[in-house]
Amino acid sequence: MTYDFPSAPSVGVPMKPAQASQAARDLLALRRSAGKRALNSPGPAPAQLDRLLEIAARVPDHRRLGPWRFIVFEGDAREHFNQAAVNIQTHEDPDASHQMLADTASYFSRAPVVIAVISSPDTAHKTPVWEQQLSAGAVCLNLLLAANASGWAGCWLTEWIAYSRGINALLNLSDTERVAGYIYLGTATEPPQERMRPDIDGKIRRWTPVGEERQ
Ligand SMILES: Cc1cc2nc3c(=O)[nH]c(=O)nc-3n(C[C@H](O)[C@H](O)[C@H](O)COP(=O)(O)O)c2cc1C
Repeated sequence: MTYDFPSAPSVGVPMKPAQASQAARDLLALRRSAGKRALNSPGPAPAQLDRLLEIAARVPDHRRLGPWRFIVFEGDAREHFNQAAVNIQTHEDPDASHQMLADTASYFSRAPVVIAVISSPDTAHKTPVWEQQLSAGAVCLNLLLAANASGWAGCWLTEWIAYSRGINALLNLSDTERVAGYIYLGTATEPPQERMRPDIDGKIRRWTPVGEERQ
């Protein structure tokens, strides 16, 4: 199940700066990730996924560097990754338990489609690397939202495979690239439940100039 996204207009075409949409408000207010063990087939077909990735990439991006890229794992490629990851974990972490290795052996089998979102900053550019990495994080959330809006469930995981030199080499990442997240997409096998959220009031302060603090 995938609904059409409108085509991108030509560069320079005037566009609306905001579009009120109850459906979009519902999506944002009620968004939930799928549990990492609660995803199954079907997932987006390759052509549907390519469209989702195109939409995901429509993120804020200081100086239009496009400082991210995607590595897609579908079909048998997922099992090949699993086995390679077990070998890397065995080498990198001699203390890895049987259970940890067994978990790794099924990582990419948890969903029919897994997308590694790679933060790929231009470290010589005047746009700070931090800003380029934030843009990669925005891609991860945008991909989840685009997938949710198309009826797919998903979750954003990192786990040890986002922090391993061996995995980075397996994925052919450069020294300055990092895995921003693995986005698992598919069909939820069970509905997620609402979870605790941070106390939002405690996270909001209105700034006032020094000397004019409210009592
Ligand atoms: C960068 C990043 C990495 C994450 N890595 C993991 C992870 O490795 N394992 C995990 O259980 N959840 C991880 N999460 C959390 C889940 O993606 C998810 O946000 C969480 O389960 C809360 O669900 P919600 O998205 O519906 O609020 C990560 C989230 C982010 C932003």
